[in-house]
Amino acid sequence: MQRILVTGGAGFIGCNFVHYIMGHTSLHVTVLDKLTYAGNLDSLSGLPADRFSFIHGDICDSGLVERLTAQADAVVHFAAESHNDNSLKEPRPFVDTNLVGTFTLIEAARLHSTRFHHISTDEVYGDLALDEPRRFTEESVYKPTSPYSATKAGSDMLVRAWVRSFGLKATISNCSNNYGPYQHVEKFIPRQITNVLDGVRPRLYGQGLNVRDWIHVEDHSAAILAILERGVIGETYLIGADGELSNRAVVERLLRHLGQPADAYDLVTDRPGHDLRYAIDSSKLRSELGWQPRFVDFDSGLAATVAWYRDNEDWWRPQKAATESKYASQGH
Ligand code: NAD
Ligand code: DAU
Repeated sequence: MQRILVTGGAGFIGCNFVHYIMGHTSLHVTVLDKLTYAGNLDSLSGLPADRFSFIHGDICDSGLVERLTAQADAVVHFAAESHNDNSLKEPRPFVDTNLVGTFTLIEAARLHSTRFHHISTDEVYGDLALDEPRRFTEESVYKPTSPYSATKAGSDMLVRAWVRSFGLKATISNCSNNYGPYQHVEKFIPRQITNVLDGVRPRLYGQGLNVRDWIHVEDHSAAILAILERGVIGETYLIGADGELSNRAVVERLLRHLGQPADAYDLVTDRPGHDLRYAIDSSKLRSELGWQPRFVDFDSGLAATVAWYRDNEDWWRPQKAATESKYASQGH
């Protein structure tokens, strides 16, 4: 494997993955990205020109996708509409990109027999009760609840069907909530950090009791590379770092890192259909591919993330006002 095509590489996880690949392999990377509101070319600045190229385009464009797939040894597919709140307001782009875009890519990968890795989410499994001992495994039943998670579940099903029916050389990974640098300010952790930096109190949906299973984005990148190099075709791998915390506990930690009182937050209108808890059992990835998370101390990962947003206001400031006015119209 020498050349990979990375879709959605100007987004949060995609750009972190590209930086990781540059530092840990000698692969050549081509990024295909539509540069929606969530894509930012500044996240890819400074990469070596002899190992990196950027193509501005849509994964639903079959001619373009076929041409780029033909030139690649593998496709790593991140591109998606990724935000639940947006999917509740305007689901259409989620159907287009997450379903039709994935279909377009796997058709091209089938045509050229290209290795394909599909990036997905733990949200396809629905949610868990707060006190349930069970966590999600590769055998859990699909029960998506939001337009976002339903389209991601549908995209997983397309990939599985293409493996079985057409022999597509694909793997799938379903990861828990990522945090770290270059995450859009619409998402929970960057929204609260940048609100506090702007003198605005963090906003917790409902009572703030929903639980998310946090993983540092660099641990996610390392897991994807392990699957790309050693994963078994047709298999699904769950990625998680045992990082379960309530949203309230996360905000209290953030406030401490930002020098504010632990209760300096507001409770706001809940998200409709808000999933209660996600939790990943990543034993298969750990035992079969030897992956381990490196960022096991969430508090220090969070402190580094706070520092990154403090130091990189030029990166997030242009998105902040539009994001907050979208939230204001949703009562959040
Ligand atoms: P993001 O919203 O930050 O980035 C998405 C990127 O895809 C952007 O650069 C955007 O411009 C691009 N894009 C959107 N539509 C496109 C199209 N039609 N054609 C080409 N490019 C397009 O998303 P993210 O948080 O980095 O998530 C990346 C992937 O990881 C998604 O598939 C998501 O479902 C999955 N995932 C995310 C998380 C998380 O915590 N953020 C966890 C598990 C899985
Ligand atoms: O689990 C993986 C998923 O994690 C990914 O598939 C998604 O792409 C990613 O966006 C993320 O989904 P969530 O809906 O869990 O992430 P979000 O950052 O939107 O919210 C995290 C939690 O915080 C959720 O319980 C809602 C809550 N929340 C969010 C915002 C923006 C708040 O309480 N206040 C807020 O202002």
